[in-house]
Amino acid sequence: MCGIVGIVGKSAREVILSGLTNLEYRGYDSAGIYLNDLAGKEYLAKATGKIHQLEAKLTPDQQGLVGIGHTRWATHGEPSVNNAHPQFDETKRFYLVHNGVIENYQELRSQYLSEAAMVSDTDTEVVVQLVSKFAREANLSAFAALKKTLKLLKGSYAFLLIDNTKPDHIYLAKNKSPLLLGIGDNFNIIASDALSVLDQTKTFIDLHDGEVGDITNDSYYLETLAGKPVIRKPYQLEIDPNAASKGTYDFYMMKEICEQPAVLRHLTQYYLDKSGEPRIDDEIVKTMAQADRFYIFAAGTSYHAGLVGKILLEHLTGIPTDVGYASEAGYHFPLLSRKPFFIFLSQSGETADSRVVLQEAIKRKIPSLTLTNVMESTLAREANYAISLEAGPEIAVASTKAYTAQIAVMAILAKAIGKQLKTVTAKQFNLKTNLALAAEGIEQLIANQAKIKQLAKTKLISSRNAFYLGRGIDYPVALEAALKLKEVSYIQTEGFAAAELKHGTISLIENDTPVIALINDPVTAGLMRGNIQEVVARGAQVITIASQDLAQAQDDLVLANIDYYLSPLISVVPTQLLAYYAAKEKGLNVDQPRNLAKSVTVE
Ligand code: M6R
Repeated sequence: MCGIVGIVGKSAREVILSGLTNLEYRGYDSAGIYLNDLAGKEYLAKATGKIHQLEAKLTPDQQGLVGIGHTRWATHGEPSVNNAHPQFDETKRFYLVHNGVIENYQELRSQYLSEAAMVSDTDTEVVVQLVSKFAREANLSAFAALKKTLKLLKGSYAFLLIDNTKPDHIYLAKNKSPLLLGIGDNFNIIASDALSVLDQTKTFIDLHDGEVGDITNDSYYLETLAGKPVIRKPYQLEIDPNAASKGTYDFYMMKEICEQPAVLRHLTQYYLDKSGEPRIDDEIVKTMAQADRFYIFAAGTSYHAGLVGKILLEHLTGIPTDVGYASEAGYHFPLLSRKPFFIFLSQSGETADSRVVLQEAIKRKIPSLTLTNVMESTLAREANYAISLEAGPEIAVASTKAYTAQIAVMAILAKAIGKQLKTVTAKQFNLKTNLALAAEGIEQLIANQAKIKQLAKTKLISSRNAFYLGRGIDYPVALEAALKLKEVSYIQTEGFAAAELKHGTISLIENDTPVIALINDPVTAGLMRGNIQEVVARGAQVITIASQDLAQAQDDLVLANIDYYLSPLISVVPTQLLAYYAAKEKGLNVDQPRNLAKSVTVE
């Protein structure tokens, strides 16, 4: 979603532009920067489009020792220069960047700002005008005016504010949108994502909801909105900056697809002991084993991983498991069993929809676990327990390796709980062997990608729509495959439980409509073949993807055999590659599909 970078103490222009460039993967439609040289000169530049278009608006001499920058993903008002951040007040004293959404901005505008000259359609401008009004009318400092304003706001925010009458400070505030402080040698940085500034510092302090702060080049002060000082120890973030670089790949998405075998092998080392048995925190396993029902909440690809997780958990533990869209559960809370346990799946750990459910779970004292790729994230911090996906930074908007890591980690967790409950023995469901088979199976597909590229080129890219079909465990994979194809290639794609097609949707099948069939379920493979014949008879152009044991001579792609319950680890990969090549062949920006953001921090 939107990105924020601010710095006090050194070459602000360079650090901010490079930080915003590092955040490009999150998706944005306009950008802006405010610089102050602490010698009386200030510069504001804003542009729609990409960071290089913003940079082109600055002359080489326009530099600063303090600055704030922003990439905006439009929520209130179209992408335009006026709506881009930083927003400023009518006296041009305060400059503000904002991630999040202020829900009551219209009420605040009518109540307090009916006289103010507003230049944008944004909720953010209302906030900066309020700060200015309170500072002027009540003669408050910038910090006090910001705090007074925050107390009126409903919604989510990460704010950075500069007051040009005291420009060696950046004021900050956080509620529900991520923000962290990076500590440097005679400089301090504040950003919405550590990855954006890792080349500057590896020492960070997380901000929590409801905290405000004031930083200079050599000091930082944090307190709660109620005025209680916050003392929090900095931590070192051990991420290799190269892990977040594209290397020789054309796109991050391909790099991340190709990293999946390495991620699975790493998970084997990380979460399995020498005998190949799960090594998961005992307390988590024992607590989960006491539940009478699991409830998984997630969004998008993580939700699809959750659907596979349900099958794994029920198979290995015998505990019934529900899966829900966090966005729905947040405001229509499910009826719960007597001993529920909540599981949150989230690559980023910052998805606002999931946070709403977790907040409710905390209120109701329901025990919870977050599975995430970012252990410093809010969902990891706020749940009772957190388990790392260990997939390494995922930069492409389309999630690939986080999905396979989520399934692998849930399988390991499910076996650990199953062993605790004695619903599975050490000998059954051999994780070590199957994760190794999955890694090899994915490598075979990657080696065979020329064929997949050809299929995308000849059967997909000229179509406006497509269908994925699957039964059993292939059904949730079909949903994920459809999401992947539509989000990066813009081909409208639906995933179906194969037999459901004939209950309505088959009317959409015309000559050459692409239908991709997944056949990994031995129980329904024969029925799948029948469903394929039904669409072929109506002119569909079919691509079949089948596991070796179930494959027939005419199948387009044959997958290595693996335990049925782990088959999504392999079967999703050709669908990721089809999506990648469909988008690439259409000349699209594979890593940053239009309108999308990597981390969805608004509800
Ligand atoms: O960070 P999360 O896993 O919570 O994100 C959830 C979805 O926004 C995410 O999976 C999204 O659907 C991806 N773009 C799919 O590729």
